[in-house]
This record gives sequence, structure tokens and C-alpha cells, in this order.
Amino acid sequence: MSLLRNVKTKSKKVIKAMLPSSLKEKMGLSVDPIDFGDLRRLQAIDPDFGFSRGKVIDRYYIEKFLQEHAGDVRGRVLELGDSSYTKRYGGSRVTKSDVLHYTKGNPQATIIADLTTATNIESNTFDCIIFTQTLQMIYDHHAALKTLQRILRPNGVLLCTANGISKICRVLGTDPWGEYWRYTAQSSKIMFEEAFKAGNVKVTTYGNVLTAIAFLHGVAAEELSESELNYHDSKYEVLIGVRAEKTAP
Ligand SMILES: C[S@@+](CC[C@H](N)C(=O)[O-])C[C@H]1O[C@@H](n2cnc3c(N)ncnc32)[C@H](O)[C@@H]1O
Repeated sequence: MSLLRNVKTKSKKVIKAMLPSSLKEKMGLSVDPIDFGDLRRLQAIDPDFGFSRGKVIDRYYIEKFLQEHAGDVRGRVLELGDSSYTKRYGGSRVTKSDVLHYTKGNPQATIIADLTTATNIESNTFDCIIFTQTLQMIYDHHAALKTLQRILRPNGVLLCTANGISKICRVLGTDPWGEYWRYTAQSSKIMFEEAFKAGNVKVTTYGNVLTAIAFLHGVAAEELSESELNYHDSKYEVLIGVRAEKTAP
């Protein structure tokens, strides 16, 4: 668009915005009213992410990311909280499955550790680490990434997911950890390359304006069509997926 036309368009918008709505209406310049329907409310449709309505939208994207990288789930695998994704995406490729938890009391946990240090975990231990919905819960996320890189075996792969656009999951005090960060593709690339070196990091984002609004309102994935869920708009990063590989020494 030529510069002149660009300036003209922009100034028209400014003038239009300044006009009182009654005059805009007379001039036929008023904007079409929006039908907010059920979305016009101050409380989310399901304040619990949509759990009561079906599959939570960020879980839809997490599973899409893990499915795209299922081949990396092999050998000795570490997961956080439970081993459901290890079983689902690794299957018979998995030789040993470990579950890490931050505090005692999780019956599934085989390792208790704070990933900002984790001195109790040996270096070069795991072939794959499934690290979903956790990085945002760790204030010193840089230290945690360094640990994850350290405890991976050479050629080992970290599969990490974290929220871009999301309501707060963990109100302080709910768990012995908080919720500190939201990520973008740009911040993720820089911070993962700091820990894993450039060229070993692949960042994928998921979402669009409709799934972002639906996720915030707690609308379930089944309430949208496959094409609506899978439409990718890089300006609306609902979920960030990062595959980071540890290079051999
Ligand atoms: C929301 S849960 C995520 C669990 C599961 N991976 C998922 O996808 O639902 C957050 C996890 O973060 C872990 N966590 C929080 N702070 C941590 C830390 N400093 N070191 C290690 N794990 C931590 C907790 O143990 C918990 O399993």
C-alpha cells in the first residue's frame, strides 16, 4: 500500500474514532454491533479450564505436540507428576520410566527434587524428559533448564510445553509452588538456546484468537471443530512447545 494511501487510511480511522457515535450513525460510519452471546460475562463459563465440559484446550495442544514428537519418547524417560504421557507416547520404546515431583507425598514419584539444583540426580541420565506445564511454575526457570540439559544423556531430548495465553492455573498457596511466567516463541527460543545451544532447539506454537478466547472461558476442545482448533495464528500463542536436544560432547 503506498505511503500516501496508508496515511489517508490511518487518518480516516482517527477522524472516525473521534466522531460522536450519533454523527457516525447519521453518516453510516458506525461499527456493526458485536453479538457477544454467552461470552458477555465477568465469570468464565467454566472457571476450571473446561474440565467439567470435556478436554481442556491446552491439553489438546499438549497432546498434539507430544504426538508430533512421539519418536523422541524412548529409552529412559523422565516425566513430572505422573507417567501418563510416557506410557501413551513412548509405549514399548520406553526401557525405564521415572516420575519426578517437587515435594514428598506423590505416590507415583520415583524422584523428589528441586530442578533448580537437583544435586541428587546424576548428569547424563535420561534419553527423554517430558516436561509439560511446569516451567512456568519455577521462578528460577533458567536454572531449571540448565539442570534439565545436565541430566539428559547426549542426544537426549527435552519435550517441554508451557502456556502463552492462559488464566492463572495455580493461585499461590494451592500448591507448594507458584506460577510465575508466561512465554512467547521469541523468549522460549532465546532461553532454550542459552541452555541447549543454537540449532538444537525447535519452538512450535499453537492457537488462534478463537481458541484463546475459548480457553480463557473454559470452553472445551470438543465444542470447537478440528479445523478451528488446528488453525494456526502465530500472533495468538495459546501453547508453546519446545523440543531441545542435548548435543553429544
Ligand atoms: C501443574 S503440575 C504439571 C504436572 C504435569 N506434568 C502436567 O502436565 O500436568 C506442576 C509440576 O511442577 C512441579 N514443580 C514445581 N516446582 C518445581 C521445582 N522447583 N522443581 C521440580 N518440579 C517442580 C511439581 O512437582 C508439579 O509436578
